[in-house]
Amino acid sequence: MSGAKMETPMTTTTVSMTVNGKQVSADVENRTLLVQYLRESLGLTGTHVGCDTSQCGACTIYVNGLPIKSCTMLARQADGAEVTTIEGLADGDTLHPMQEAFRENHALQCGFCTPGMVMSAIGIVERNKDSLDEKTVRHELEGNFCRCTGYHNIVKAILAAHKEMTA
Ligand code: FES
Ligand code: FES
Repeated sequence: MSGAKMETPMTTTTVSMTVNGKQVSADVENRTLLVQYLRESLGLTGTHVGCDTSQCGACTIYVNGLPIKSCTMLARQADGAEVTTIEGLADGDTLHPMQEAFRENHALQCGFCTPGMVMSAIGIVERNKDSLDEKTVRHELEGNFCRCTGYHNIVKAILAAHKEMTA
């Protein structure tokens, strides 16, 4: 019996990227989300998953200099990218000014939303270097949920970090 041979679709792809300054490479399933790859393959569990609807922002990281929700991107789409996660922010024992501002202003309760908040907050400061007010911070934080509802101190922390980062 003869017949056309069915091609098996390729289900894995080799991806390479720079994560927190280190070059990494792996075979990943085509359906693997970037957040899964970071957490499950690289052990970078500081990036959290707080929803399955791309709403909570707990998974926010930087890809090629821009904050993105890493549950909205496939790992293979980040091939060749420069990725920064919460683990890549501090310089040894010295916290990033945004992390320090969150600490100083008691801007966390359970801490679940904090990594995503910090990453998004850095983006807010970078987009509003010249001036930043409370209304703008609240508006730009709409993509990040804090289930402990600690927004007041989060906003205070971001405004404090803005001063520090733009001084
Ligand atoms: Fe990505 Fe909620 S886990 S937005
Ligand atoms: Fe608990 Fe934000 S500090 S979810």
